[in-house]
Amino acid sequence: MGWYDVFSRFYDASVERLYIESRARAVLALAPRAGEYIVDLPCGTGLSLDGLVAAVGPEGRVIGVDYSAGMLAQAQRRASQAGWDNVSLQQGDVLRFGADELERACGRRQVDALHVFLGLSAFPEWERAAERLWSLLRPGGRVVAVDVYAARLGFHGRMVNLTARADITRRFWEPFERLAEDFSCEPLPSLRAHGGELRLLRGVKPA
Ligand SMILES: C[S@@+](CC[C@H](N)C(=O)[O-])C[C@H]1O[C@@H](n2cnc3c(N)ncnc32)[C@H](O)[C@@H]1O
Repeated sequence: MGWYDVFSRFYDASVERLYIESRARAVLALAPRAGEYIVDLPCGTGLSLDGLVAAVGPEGRVIGVDYSAGMLAQAQRRASQAGWDNVSLQQGDVLRFGADELERACGRRQVDALHVFLGLSAFPEWERAAERLWSLLRPGGRVVAVDVYAARLGFHGRMVNLTARADITRRFWEPFERLAEDFSCEPLPSLRAHGGELRLLRGVKPA
């Protein structure tokens, strides 16, 4: 059992309230449209799902992927309770999740949008993970990622790195800055408990 399988039991209680506002901003920035297919990776316990699911509607689909079976089980519970039938939840490693895996999950080899919330600070080999994610996006598709950045770690930053098994000193926006058109990266309102500055990146894959 990995750390996130354990963390899944108290993840929502400890994390949910800290990111409510930035989660809403991420969905707003992604501007999902009816009928779109969106990959949410890592989907964790599914805390971002409701905003995405509501926007894509019955013709669209949200494909939630996460490495942790425990986190996914919480996401599955959330989806079942809400009665969403436009969500596919899939256990997978971002470094191995490619077009074949996506096609098995949803019948498509690329999607319209990528939603990456608190993933790039947590993934191993995160730059390779960013490239892998990018390959899932169709030309003209959009990406939004939110994460924490701290140039230097203070007490809260060290606590975040420890509890999330993360590295918040990563300049997580840089791979997308190189790859995307219409790129921007903006600071979001941040709390000391975030351990650094929350930032939201967005961009478009060149057609
Ligand atoms: C801080 S949580 C964020 C979860 C969710 N996006 C949220 O906003 O609450 C980080 C997540 O990354 C997942 N994760 C870590 N390494 C991964 C990998 N290699 N592939 C897929 N998911 C991974 C963990 O299982 C965990 O659910």
